Amino acid sequence: MFSAFSSKFPACVRFVGSFDELLSTRFENGINALCWPRQLLGNFTEVIAQLDLPKGITSLDETKLASLELPEAGSLAVRMMLDDLHRLRQEGLEPTLDGIHGYLHPQEEDYLRTDVCSFHADSATAEADTWLCTYHGDCSLGLPNDQAIARPQHPPARHDLLEKFGGNDDESFADWLGDHFHDLHYHPLPGAQPYAFGVGHLWRIATQYPGSPVPPCIHRAPDPVPGQPRLLLLS
Ligand SMILES: [Fe+2]
Repeated sequence: MFSAFSSKFPACVRFVGSFDELLSTRFENGINALCWPRQLLGNFTEVIAQLDLPKGITSLDETKLASLELPEAGSLAVRMMLDDLHRLRQEGLEPTLDGIHGYLHPQEEDYLRTDVCSFHADSATAEADTWLCTYHGDCSLGLPNDQAIARPQHPPARHDLLEKFGGNDDESFADWLGDHFHDLHYHPLPGAQPYAFGVGHLWRIATQYPGSPVPPCIHRAPDPVPGQPRLLLLS
């Protein structure tokens, strides 16, 4: 099952067999996404139903989750999420668990959007990784680096951004691109095949930081589906 699952992914993704391996494997040789595939236990739909999430992003703390009155399968789902929170905290990380029921800010529909639903790289000033797991709802998507073009290098995007900027294509334009996060966003090349992070699998992906041995993992959140909230772990 493991090899059948992993064969669907591009060469930048590597699969591991345990949390310890996920933690200790180095990003190298173009591998910028590590996945520990897992079969979720428990019923996350029961958790969602009990949470009655308002619109937007709700941070779920342990007290709130532990206070839910759930049947056994729902309690098992809560335990899985809390176990992940604990194992990441033990490694000095600061994971959050969110219920995402659409977004409160208006979603930009145009191709120059800079929200999490646009392909982007996470960035940091020093070595850091992003960890994520979707427990319920649509999952995030990854885009192999050789199937993407950085927005500032995408001629139509650069042209339109220069118009928005209203100045010359010089250093101040480069600064403006960075100030508005366009330098972290990417566009799929024709024929690109994004890969799905799936549900239940724990991922560790590379960010953009000075001296990183690999290009950052390009990824995006799914567009919200009305009536289908997500449960997401992020660190
Ligand atoms: Fe991100």
